Amino acid sequence: MPTAFDYLIEKINLAPFEIEPFKHVYIEDFFSPEHFEEIITEREINLGECSDDLQLFQLLFDRGYKVIDFPGCITDYKKYIELHSSGKTLKINETCENSGIVLRLEPKSPFLIELDSFLQSRKFNEAIARKFNLNLSDCNVDSGIQKYLDGYEISPHPDTKRKAATFMVNVNPHDQSEAFNHHTHYLTFKPQYKYIEEFWQSNEKADREWVPWEWCDTKRRQEKNNSIVLFAPHHGTLHAVKAEYDHLTSQRTQLYGNLWFQSCETTFSPSWEELQKKELEEPSGFVKKFRQKLGRTKHRLLSKLEVTDKNISKRDY
Ligand SMILES: [Fe+2]
Repeated sequence: MPTAFDYLIEKINLAPFEIEPFKHVYIEDFFSPEHFEEIITEREINLGECSDDLQLFQLLFDRGYKVIDFPGCITDYKKYIELHSSGKTLKINETCENSGIVLRLEPKSPFLIELDSFLQSRKFNEAIARKFNLNLSDCNVDSGIQKYLDGYEISPHPDTKRKAATFMVNVNPHDQSEAFNHHTHYLTFKPQYKYIEEFWQSNEKADREWVPWEWCDTKRRQEKNNSIVLFAPHHGTLHAVKAEYDHLTSQRTQLYGNLWFQSCETTFSPSWEELQKKELEEPSGFVKKFRQKLGRTKHRLLSKLEVTDKNISKRDY
């Protein structure tokens, strides 16, 4: 059955891959101007100004949003209001300073119902699977229209190996949203932490956890409204969010979805503390090999630059 959104599939099919800071697809002006205008002016997306957190939640519930269980978030909205209204933070993850709350829309307007069902449709998800050489029949699909309130934070992580592909489209209703501090960061490890990426890559059974912000450098942010990013998670697909903004004026809003592998071979999931320990106390075989490789590269560079080992700080590792 043709839908009004079929042109989006063609856009995904034709989009080239970008490789910095990792392989992904990035498309600006994803929706047609008419469709995008309709999305961001829908009363379920554009709630208008609220006077306080309580009114905001009443409005969100009234328009069809439900709090969902989401990484880095609490689900008790009363507790969230209590903490946020009094300026307190809640640390539920060691690598984050705060936790947020995420709500997903059960749309009521015909236009958003059609959009929501398109996001979940076989043809849209087949296009994503095809783009990343995945087989949709190996995956489950989960997607929706979501709002992420102030305090939402996920520290850098590449995503679990259970995730086959992911996409996010910015559909922020405020005309100044690109300047707000709530956008997704795309990052790389600092050189001294690159060994973690190699650990994830070479240990098939090890899943990938969140790491501290200080271990990574932000290379770009997805600020542009009506842009989509898609990628298939691997050891290098580091991304993160730290939202600090006024959600009473408007809220970070995304179309968000994932393809999940139906089965996954991972058997353990070392935390950032364990990975750090491995590096500092007991280098594994691959870390040793990696250091040797670094040593050889350094030697070659030093010969060219004619400097001695003493000039090089240990921190260069
Ligand atoms: Fe993620």
